[in-house]
Amino acid sequence: MDKKALEALLKDMTIEEKVMQLVQIPGSEYEADAEITGVERGQVKDNVKRLAGSTLGIWGAKRLRKIQEQYMKEHPHHIPLMFMLDVIHGHKTVLPCPLGQGAAFDPEAVRKGAEMQAREAAADGVHATFSPMADLCRDARWGRIMESTGEDKLLNSRMAAAMVEGYQGKDRKDPEHIAACVKHFAAYGAAEGGRDYNNTELSEHTLREHYLRSYGEAIKKDPAMVMTSFNSINGIPATGSTFLMKKILREEFGFQGVLISDWGAVGEMINHGYAEDMKDAALKGMLAGVDIDMCSGCYSTHLEELVNTGAVSVEMLDAAVLRVLNMKNDLGLFEDPYRGCNAETGPVITEEGRQLAREAVAASLVLLENKDKTLPLRKDKIAFIGPFADTKRLQSAWAFSGEDENTVTVWEAASEIYAPENRKVAAGCTMMDQDAVTARGICHVENWQQENDRLLAEAVRTAEWADTVVLCLGEDSTQSGEATSKASLKLPAVQRDLLRAIRKTGKKIVTLIFTGRPLELEEVRDLSDALMICWLPGTEGGHGVMDILTGKCAPSGRLPVSFPYTVGQEPLHYDVYPTGRPKPVNGPFEYTSRYLDCENGALYPFGYGLSYTDFAYSDPKLSAQKMTDAETITASITVRNTGDRRGGVTVQLYIRDVTGSRVRPVRELADFKKITLDPGTEETVSFTIKEEMLRFWTAGEKWASEPGKFLVWICNDSNDGQPLEFQLVKAKGE
Ligand code: NOJ
Repeated sequence: MDKKALEALLKDMTIEEKVMQLVQIPGSEYEADAEITGVERGQVKDNVKRLAGSTLGIWGAKRLRKIQEQYMKEHPHHIPLMFMLDVIHGHKTVLPCPLGQGAAFDPEAVRKGAEMQAREAAADGVHATFSPMADLCRDARWGRIMESTGEDKLLNSRMAAAMVEGYQGKDRKDPEHIAACVKHFAAYGAAEGGRDYNNTELSEHTLREHYLRSYGEAIKKDPAMVMTSFNSINGIPATGSTFLMKKILREEFGFQGVLISDWGAVGEMINHGYAEDMKDAALKGMLAGVDIDMCSGCYSTHLEELVNTGAVSVEMLDAAVLRVLNMKNDLGLFEDPYRGCNAETGPVITEEGRQLAREAVAASLVLLENKDKTLPLRKDKIAFIGPFADTKRLQSAWAFSGEDENTVTVWEAASEIYAPENRKVAAGCTMMDQDAVTARGICHVENWQQENDRLLAEAVRTAEWADTVVLCLGEDSTQSGEATSKASLKLPAVQRDLLRAIRKTGKKIVTLIFTGRPLELEEVRDLSDALMICWLPGTEGGHGVMDILTGKCAPSGRLPVSFPYTVGQEPLHYDVYPTGRPKPVNGPFEYTSRYLDCENGALYPFGYGLSYTDFAYSDPKLSAQKMTDAETITASITVRNTGDRRGGVTVQLYIRDVTGSRVRPVRELADFKKITLDPGTEETVSFTIKEEMLRFWTAGEKWASEPGKFLVWICNDSNDGQPLEFQLVKAKGE
C-alpha cells in the first residue's frame, strides 16, 4: 500500500478503530494454550478482540491462519492482526541463551543465528519478535542476565545490532524475516539489588555512557519496534518518561518506529504511584509517546474518552496509529495478511539449522580451568555424572516454541562417540534442592532425601569404575529468566555434596556448569581438574559440548560477564570508576577501597577464557604516541600459537582516559578480534584507535573527547596486560 492509501485508510477509521490499533491483547484470547505471562483468559471484551491491532504469545501456520481469517472477516477495514512472539534465542532450533551467545564474541555468528530464528518463526506465521534485549547487566542476582549478552556496552551494542540485522534482513517484506523489537528501554538491567521489576537510580552520565549505548547502537539498524521497561528510573516509571521516550529515543536516537510498552507496564504506573488510575495511566503513556499498550487494558478502556475530551489530541492519536499501520505495511500484511501461514506444517528443524546451532554451542563454551591438560578427553573409561548429564532441559527461559524432544543431551552425544564399555551415566542427585523456588512456583520432589541418597551412592559407584568423571552441574532453566532474582549464587547444596563425594573417589573431574547466570565457583574450581561454562546451550547442547570435550573443536569462548567470588560483590563489572583510595597491588591495604574478607575483582573476569593450546603475545605497540582528533593510531600485537594444537583466541583492546572532566572507568573494551592459529604460526592483530572511541558524556553535558593521556591494553581479558600510552592533542582553535 502506498503512503497516500495508508493515510486515506486512517482518515476513514473511527476513533474507536484507531484506538484499537494501539491495543495488544494476549494470544490466549484467541487460543487457549497460548504462552502468556499475565492476565487470565476471557478478560477482554468482544469489541476489543475484534478490533485489537496485535496479539502475542501464539504461533503455528495453521492456527494463525484460522485466527486471521476470522479477524479479517470481522474487521470493518480488513486491517490484518499482527502476531508477535518472544523468539529470543530460537524458535524450533534453539541456540544457546543470549548470555552464551555473548561468550562467542562473534557478532556475525549472532546475526546468522537471528536470521535462522526469523526464518523458522516467519514460517510459523509470526510477524515480530520481542528481541534483542539490549539491557546492560552487571548483577548476576538478576535472573534476566541470561537474556543479555553481558556486562559490556560495546559487546552488547555489537550483538544487539547484529540481532536486529539478522531478524529483519534487508527488506521487511521478505517472508523469511520478521520485525525486531529492541528492549527494555531503559536501564531495566540496573534494578536495585538485582531484584526484577525494581527501581533504578542512575546518574545521567552513567545512564548515557553505559546503559543507553547498546539500545542506541541497535536502533541505528532501524528496528521496527522498541519496548519500554518495567522499572522506574530516577523516580519516573520508564513507560511514562518523556525524557527517555521523547528526548532520548525519538529526538536523539531518531527512532521512527513503534514504541510498545512491556506487558501491563502502562497500568503498572498506578502501582508505581505515578498514575492515579487506569485513565491517568493511559494519558501518561500516550503523553510519553507509547504507541501500543501491551495487555494493560488502559488504552482499550480509556483512550477513546481521552481523545473525545481533548486530553489526547487527534493528531497525537493519528501519529501513533500511522506508525502501527506503517509497520503492518512494511511487513507486507496488507498485500498478504496470511504471510507465513500458507504451509500446512510450519517450520521443521533442518540439518543445516542443527549444524549452525552446534557450532554456536561450541563457540559459546568458556574453559576456565584445565589443570595438567585434563582436556581434551582421552580414550578412557568416562562417567557422565550429574543432573545435567542426560537431561533434555538444556533450553533456557523464553524458548517457548522449542521442543525438549529435539534436544540432544550430553549423554546422547557421548553415546555416539564412546563404545558402551567405555561410558556410564548417573544423575547423581536431583536438579534442585528440596522445595526450591522457581519462576513459576515451588519445585517439590517426593522422598527427596531418600532419592538423593540412592542417586549419590549410584554416582559414587559409577565414578569408581571410571578414569575420568564429566560432572554436569548447574542451575535449572526455570531459575533464570524473568522473575528469577536470587540472593544466593551458589550451586544447589545437593550438587555441591555430589561434587565433594566424587572428589573423594580420587578420579579426574571435568566439571561442566550449565547456567543462565554467573555463579560462585571457588569451591568448584578447587575440587575440579577442568572447569567449563556451558550456559544453557539449547537444541544441539550435547553435540556442541562433546565437540569441545573431545577436542574436535577448540574452545574459544570468553566470559561476557564477571564471575564473582561471592554474591556480596554484586553488582560486579570490570569497567568501574576509580576511587580516591585504590587498593594497592602489594599493600599496605589499610584504609583503601577493599573488602576485608574478599578480593575486589572477579574470580574469573570479563573477557577471560582458556584454550587447549598456548599463545604468546609479543611486540605490543602503538603507531604513534600522539594523535589529534583528525588522526588515528594503530595498536597492534603479535600472537603466536606456541602449543601443539590449533586454537582460537579473542584479542581484546581496552582503553583508559586517565584524567577527565568526569572520572572515567579504569578501562573499557574498545574493540576485539577473534583469530584462529595453527601450531607454530603467528598473526599480527591490529586495531584502529579513532577519536570517536575516546568520547564520553563530559562535565559540560555533551559527548566529546578531552585532550590528555590515554592508556591502551591489547590483551587476553579485562584484567590482563601492560598498558601502552598516547596523548590526544587538540589542534589549535578547538
Ligand atoms: C514481559 C517481558 O518483560 C518482555 O521481555 C516480554 O517480551 C513480554 N513480557 C512479552 O512476553
